[in-house]
Amino acid sequence: MSKAESIVIAVDGTAASGKGTLAKKLAAHFGFAHMDSGALYRLAALSVLETGGDPKNEADALRGAQTIDFNRAGDPKIRTDIVGQAASYVAAIPAVRTALFEFQQSFLTNPPGGSPGAVMDGRDIGTVICPGATAKLYVDARLDTRARRRWAELKAMGIRRTEQDVVAELGCRDEADKARPISPLKQAEDADLLDTSNLGIDAAFAAALALISPKVAKVLESALKDRHRG
Ligand code: C5P
Repeated sequence: MSKAESIVIAVDGTAASGKGTLAKKLAAHFGFAHMDSGALYRLAALSVLETGGDPKNEADALRGAQTIDFNRAGDPKIRTDIVGQAASYVAAIPAVRTALFEFQQSFLTNPPGGSPGAVMDGRDIGTVICPGATAKLYVDARLDTRARRRWAELKAMGIRRTEQDVVAELGCRDEADKARPISPLKQAEDADLLDTSNLGIDAAFAAALALISPKVAKVLESALKDRHRG
């Protein structure tokens, strides 16, 4: 399969909807590479905060995006609510998105490790980063459900917040992500909606697989036919 034909699964959705977990599981299932694009914005925000910058200031935010330390992608610090909020601020700045655009696109067109495909989760993967993705999922859930999940994650990290605080933070971040002029969070016209409000991880994964597998299989079949013809 040529590089141009690499399979792309775009998983967009609201904060704490379960899209990250689903994207990881889908990548493992198909043997594809995975990127959590939210981590890029969180790392940029972390860099801004740690250098005493203002995440809403264009020059500070751009410097943050240009000084991302990829070795810290697994740093629990990027998962805090403070960094999440700052990530939403830097992500609304066009220069930041431009700085990170090519990195994301080349990951999808040329997945690492020679993988035949890639799964990327975020807010604008199916709409802006890869509008021609093989399959697109838009993951959402009721705000109270998402807040309860995020509250439990924060608690496990030793961060104590009331559920009301988490509801307010997620609601505010989603609103800002949906309302921003550049790359707003929205469901792509050709994306399948998956509401995980009443689904556990296994059920959500089964539902995602049922939506995505036929699309991936179609591309793999036609690539096989091309190979036999060639
Ligand atoms: O997905 P996660 O909650 O980690 O993303 C943190 C923030 O990064 C989001 O609230 C959003 O503002 C921003 N983001 C984005 N575009 C992406 C991924 C994340 O704007 N593709």
